[in-house]
Amino acid sequence: MNVHDSEKVIGTLLSQGYLQVEEPEDAGLVLYNTCSIRDKAEQKVFNRLQNFKREAGKGKVFGVLGCVAQQEGEKIFDRAPHVSLVCGSASYPRFGEMLVQLEAGSRRVTGLNLETDETFDTPFTRRDNPHRAYITIIEGCDKSCAYCVVPFTRGPERSRTSESVMAEARGLAERGYTEIQLLGQNVNSYRDPSPAGWDFAALLARVAEIPGIRRVRYTTSHPRDFVKRIVDAMDANPVLCDHVHLPVQSGSSRVLAAMDRLYTRDEYMRRIEWLKNAGRRYSLTTDIIVGFPGETEQDFQQTLDLLDEVQYDSLFSFKYSPRPNTAALAMEDRVPEEEKQRRLLTLQEKQRAIQIRRNAEWIGRIQEVMVEGRNQALGQWIGRTSDNRTLNFSHPGSNGDSLVGRYLPVRVTRSGPNSLVGESVSVV
Ligand code: 5AD
Ligand code: SF4
Repeated sequence: MNVHDSEKVIGTLLSQGYLQVEEPEDAGLVLYNTCSIRDKAEQKVFNRLQNFKREAGKGKVFGVLGCVAQQEGEKIFDRAPHVSLVCGSASYPRFGEMLVQLEAGSRRVTGLNLETDETFDTPFTRRDNPHRAYITIIEGCDKSCAYCVVPFTRGPERSRTSESVMAEARGLAERGYTEIQLLGQNVNSYRDPSPAGWDFAALLARVAEIPGIRRVRYTTSHPRDFVKRIVDAMDANPVLCDHVHLPVQSGSSRVLAAMDRLYTRDEYMRRIEWLKNAGRRYSLTTDIIVGFPGETEQDFQQTLDLLDEVQYDSLFSFKYSPRPNTAALAMEDRVPEEEKQRRLLTLQEKQRAIQIRRNAEWIGRIQEVMVEGRNQALGQWIGRTSDNRTLNFSHPGSNGDSLVGRYLPVRVTRSGPNSLVGESVSVV
């Protein structure tokens, strides 16, 4: 989400006549886009700003964007007086105007209002990748997960119109993009604000029908809003990739209730069953937090047990970290740091064993990859499968021509915990 926000901000800058430079030292305007989802994000930002303080005298202008900007607000001016712009993501639609204020010499420009129904739709996005494009379909979040800072930093949920999403997707296809990744804090609660009134499943189906688009992914889902119609839409069109990221956070219904996740373990498992019984094989990935306040050894065992039951293809795991403004901040029964660390490692070790087994199941099979790059050191191309695995492969006939952006069939010959290795095969 942040990477794509930066693409839109950079596009806005370019459209107003700015040029991009390689090094911050060469820039007249330095903007930090920041994340505050975990850890001591605020401190890291202030440290980075501190490193640049002496540059301020040379006429450089500094700005802080994103969630740390929203969270710390005008306090940033006090702690880092050389900063001239503090702007959260909900104010990006006004970013162009703020640049004009900066250019006019204003040194305390803010964009901190969260009460908005606007989304940041811009024709100027400067995309990093010429083949795969992100499209934001919904911004903000109306859930109130007890650990999560996002509703406080990105504001309330607001969906873009289906017309504007479709126009952006069609434009991308016309410019040669073949993969689209739909983005939102909770894409499943997408609701077209225009009279067409599409829900997420309808939008997915339509984006996947755009001529030239070969792969459509989406992130991220909330299990409560992940309805069966989404699985049906995916089953109906293989352009919708063979992968679902469905963050569970914990395997214990007791902890899920404390987190205010709005589903029980059984309700989550029902969604997993839809996917396991679906028309084709979907890879399943998730996010897990260990050490949420009050998480007992028994609760943690239930999370381990969930990994056995679901057999995820990959997961992101995090130690709970207290965030400002959140409900969990006031909860007692903190899990000690060493215990969080132990649980994290135990979880990761278990998942590693599962991944070794699951990846090995692919040996001998042929999978289509989209080529993402080249690993010179290994003499291999880097590919990604529809089900979101990295499949590195050799391609003897490529004569030094770049294969990046192409779709090729590859036979899997080896597997590791995090990726597959193979060789390209010619289609008969
Ligand atoms: N502590 C730890 N992990 C968190 N996440 C969100 N907030 C926190 C927090 N306070 C994790 C969740 C979420 C992912 C994006 O980050 O697992 O799904
Ligand atoms: Fe945070 Fe929960 Fe919203 Fe996801 S659904 S962004 S975890 S509050």
